[in-house]
Amino acid sequence: MNITLRVWRQKGPDDKGRMVTYKVEDVSEDMSFLEMLDVLNEKLILEGEEPVAFDHDCREGICGACGVVIDGEAHGPETTTTCQLHMRSFSDGDTITVEPWRAKAFPVIKDLVVDRGSFDRIIQAGGYVSAPTGTAPDAHAMPVPKADADRAFDAATCIGCGACVAACPNASGMLFTAAKVTHLGMLPQGQPEREARVVQMVNQHDAEDFGGCTNIGECAAVCPKGIPLDTISQLNRDLLGSLTSSRSE
Ligand code: SF4
Ligand code: FES
Repeated sequence: MNITLRVWRQKGPDDKGRMVTYKVEDVSEDMSFLEMLDVLNEKLILEGEEPVAFDHDCREGICGACGVVIDGEAHGPETTTTCQLHMRSFSDGDTITVEPWRAKAFPVIKDLVVDRGSFDRIIQAGGYVSAPTGTAPDAHAMPVPKADADRAFDAATCIGCGACVAACPNASGMLFTAAKVTHLGMLPQGQPEREARVVQMVNQHDAEDFGGCTNIGECAAVCPKGIPLDTISQLNRDLLGSLTSSRSE
């Protein structure tokens, strides 16, 4: 395939940035989107130009680093990560527009790379347990109802990619925060901090300039790990319970 790429180029945080058009030729439909960007960058390097900066690590859909907006959609036309998106989702001759996440809480560092440190600070605010868990316990040492264990596990699959924020018209990070609150809140080990956790994480979310949730649902629609919208309901129940509890005073 021969592809035309319109890529956001921005030298640094203070640069205004602009779209630049490139041609990428001989793209295999089996390449991932990142491998196609690798082809572009090899060409740019050979021509003495600055390669396009983009974030990536695992390239197997588990680290959450590779998020970009492709043709206006977080991670592009499939509900997956950019590294797991393949060029077979596009057609020969396509023009594809690639931009960084657009959110106040995710400032652009360079080109397609944004600073997602705000997510780290939300986790630091409450995403931990103080219960001594020791070494790996036997599978049935601490009975947890299967439905609770499954819900905790599903919430724990959030990879912190930020697609939920990029897709939300309010740039809210509430699905991410709700996934972390639900993950620990469903397990016995997470109970000692349950009330304080939700308050601290939501306060940090708000302090990082994420927008508020107005139940639009774009976040869950683009989430590559299928984090459900009702984790936000669980967060809201925990928050209300915590704020009305004497223990949170
Ligand atoms: S909730 Fe989904 S979209 Fe949001 S950071 Fe986690 S994995 Fe990514
Ligand atoms: S590079 Fe790790 S999820 Fe894409």
